[in-house]
Amino acid sequence: MAAQFESQSYDGFAHWMRLQAREELEHAMRLFDYVNRRGGRVVLQEIPCPPEEYGGRWTRSGTRSSTNRQ
Ligand SMILES: [Fe+2]
Repeated sequence: MAAQFESQSYDGFAHWMRLQAREELEHAMRLFDYVNRRGGRVVLQEIPCPPEEYGGRWTRSGTRSSTNRQ
């Protein structure tokens, strides 16, 4: 989502999404560390790639196009 916002020059939203991604990575690493501490073994699996675009494109006037809504 940060990439989409950046491509649309919504730098504030892009920054916010980067912070959220970082926070979620921290959560994942806590689980990773917990499993390792408890003697388990972390096995990473493939996840689907994110959509190229979220919810259509917003315009500067606040309207949204209808392409690629998910
Ligand atoms: Fe989380």
